[in-house]
Amino acid sequence: MITAYDEPTARYADAAGVDFILVGDSLANVVLGHADTLQVTVADMVHHTKAVAAAHPAAMIIADMPWLSYHGTPADAVANAGALIRAGAQAVKLEGGSNRADVIAAIVNAEIPVVGHLGLTPQSVLAFGGFKVQAKTAEAADQLVREALALQELGVCMIVIECVPSAVGTMATEALSIPTIGIGAGPDTDGQVLVLHDVLGLTSRPPAKFVRPYADLGAAITAAVAAYAADVKSGSFPNESETYPTPADFTH
Ligand code: KIV
Repeated sequence: MITAYDEPTARYADAAGVDFILVGDSLANVVLGHADTLQVTVADMVHHTKAVAAAHPAAMIIADMPWLSYHGTPADAVANAGALIRAGAQAVKLEGGSNRADVIAAIVNAEIPVVGHLGLTPQSVLAFGGFKVQAKTAEAADQLVREALALQELGVCMIVIECVPSAVGTMATEALSIPTIGIGAGPDTDGQVLVLHDVLGLTSRPPAKFVRPYADLGAAITAAVAAYAADVKSGSFPNESETYPTPADFTH
């Protein structure tokens, strides 16, 4: 699983053969320049889910339900999940465990596949007091597994587990019959997810410990734009082959 936020990133990611494209609310951080994910709205997520869906990926599209879109009534949560499905997602992801039981049950009951998200849930950044590794004690690890089982019982189809000790990723994966997708949860989860811009080297912040950058596109973009600007300034761009010829009978 990898994130994407627009048509070209979804198209390139899909061509790579990923199974799932997540229109993550990390949109806030990596595309819109916010410090946390609390700034994106359902309208933002719908806008970007439509852009991803325009790539018609073979991969399943999962759209994140943004903060406050599933914290009110189950009816509101179903309407917000439905908006993401109508924008082109095939499943929605939301953060939390049994504290969201009523909204998860309602969304599942509306025939919308739900992906859970446990561990470091970025929408809880203020409550957590920062982006910190979660489930670091045996009690907290057991609690996470209990929450994962509760989500499974509620009918979620898979669970993203973020930023926990490797053993917790293993414990949850062994306890569940649905797939786990890890991000900073060690090698034993059934799948892995990373933020595309982290993978491509397109973020200004230092990468988290669990990120493996596979490219340095930030440097490549700067080099390409610098070369273009230099060619414009030197007059070597555009050249003849990049210019429409002036017709012989052109008069001015
Ligand atoms: O928003 C996002 O990109 C996510 C992943 C980090 C799992 O939720």
